[in-house]
Amino acid sequence: MENWKTIAKRMYKNKCGVKKIADRVGKPEDEVKDFLKSEKSKRAAAKSKPDKFTVFENLAPTTHSQEWNGNRILSFGLISDTHINSKYTQLTYLRHFYEICSRREIKEIYHAGDIDEGEQMRTGHQYECYMQGGDDHVNEIIANYPHFDGITTHFITGNHDASIYKRCGIDIGETIAMRREDMKYLGRDCARVEITPNCILELRHPWDGTAYAISYKPQKMIEGMEADSKPNILAIGHYHKLEYLFYRNVHCFQAGCFQTQTPFTRGKGISVHLGGWIITVEVDKRGYIQRIVPEMIPFYKGINLDYKNWSRSSND
Ligand SMILES: [Fe+2]
Repeated sequence: MENWKTIAKRMYKNKCGVKKIADRVGKPEDEVKDFLKSEKSKRAAAKSKPDKFTVFENLAPTTHSQEWNGNRILSFGLISDTHINSKYTQLTYLRHFYEICSRREIKEIYHAGDIDEGEQMRTGHQYECYMQGGDDHVNEIIANYPHFDGITTHFITGNHDASIYKRCGIDIGETIAMRREDMKYLGRDCARVEITPNCILELRHPWDGTAYAISYKPQKMIEGMEADSKPNILAIGHYHKLEYLFYRNVHCFQAGCFQTQTPFTRGKGISVHLGGWIITVEVDKRGYIQRIVPEMIPFYKGINLDYKNWSRSSND
């Protein structure tokens, strides 16, 4: 026999009124009314209850924290041997190199020595210089060494720069730094720079002759270093070569030059590599290099008598 509640529900679904339902099931109208009301509430509650497998979007975000490990990525320029005041200096390419660095928002450029051609390096050397005398050499560098807003050049001096020091005790590096705010002098022949805490860039300008094999001198130099005195990056000037070498955990660069072949290098059969580097490194908090991107910026054909393209006011 059918339950009165089942009959009432069916009749309500078929649009029957409370009175008619109450008469049919033999119950008071109030009782039927309360029953239908409670059924209505149950249906509403069932509708609002999510299905078991409903997937919600836009959940509250969860937080995942990653430990900051102190790594730092930085880029800098590296050049050497600009030999300004030599008739073979390549000011156009040097300026081009600085333009590239400026576009790349490089703030620091390191120079591994022989910014100047120097004087009286050997008999007849003066005829290879387009300026004579320490003052004029320095004035020429102040006027025509590239000056770009936001770029600082950190430089050491080398054996050609020292030719003036040897004759009269004037260190042209000091004078240049006094007169150019964008040029910071790091000393003669060698300097160690902390590019980040504990990460050492060593600039070196040797005084010896070139070797038959490009990598020979840097290799011997690194072999001669004691384990605890090795830099993370070694930048070598003087040999006028472009090379990257990784040896004994030292990232070693020969920094190139901006002086085309001279009668001296041609006579001795010495090749020169025009250009420099943009180096990008990721350094951890211990100073260890985790990644390095050595980017060579080479120039191929020297510009004949390029110094004539630059007057003292060119840089103003
Ligand atoms: Fe040199």
